[in-house]
Amino acid sequence: MRKKIIAGNWKMNLTIAEGKQLVQDVINGLQALPHHKEVVFAPPFLQSVMVSELVNKTNNVFVAAQNCSAFANGAYTGEISATMIKNAGMPYVLIGHSERRDYFNETPTLLAQKVDQALAARLQIIFCCGEPLNSREQATHNQFVADQLRDSLFHLDAKAMENITIAYEPIWAIGTGLTASAKQAQYMHAHIRATIHAQYGETIAKDLSILYGGSCKPNNAAELFACEDVDGGLIGGASLVANDFIAIINAMA
Ligand code: PGA
Repeated sequence: MRKKIIAGNWKMNLTIAEGKQLVQDVINGLQALPHHKEVVFAPPFLQSVMVSELVNKTNNVFVAAQNCSAFANGAYTGEISATMIKNAGMPYVLIGHSERRDYFNETPTLLAQKVDQALAARLQIIFCCGEPLNSREQATHNQFVADQLRDSLFHLDAKAMENITIAYEPIWAIGTGLTASAKQAQYMHAHIRATIHAQYGETIAKDLSILYGGSCKPNNAAELFACEDVDGGLIGGASLVANDFIAIINAMA
């Protein structure tokens, strides 16, 4: 069954004390979640064990790593492996965020390696894709996103795809205050689902959760989430403010 997911990507923000306060405030303000709806916190690594312990007893609230190594283990200074993430109590990992692609030169091939490491460690993957502004302006965005999916995911078999959630984040909307309109989001989400359908068939495509990300706020969340193929959100800035994050969680019917 297709899950509804609201994930908060803290990026490189908040101290341990601030993170703890935020998680406690969100949990305290949360209504009980139905079984098909999940809330996910993606804090920086230093805070993730603390957050895992805090959410431990709350149903359907989980923790994601923001990144994982493309290697299994060994002499890779500064890296954190998928196995370590799983072992620390985090069931999810984000892979392919545009900031990792752009600022840390993460190539499609490297992302495919990270995907393989994450699946080997039995993590659920939130795989991010999305086009830059010039691609949208040149109307190549559909092909751009389909290429991102093909290059880093299509080596997987159908069984492995069951562990993938897609987050569509148009780069021109991330942290800019510009949001894709509900119509633009729905159009791209349907395109992503059709692309997965063509490769993996109906059941995988139907059960795939596709999240929208990019300046999703309390004032636009409900309209985005009302779209047929939008199954939740990957929230950056607004996930750092407890009341805003709760409002976005509540906007997901
Ligand atoms: P934003 O970030 O909500 O601040 O635009 C979204 C993301 O990058 O995941």
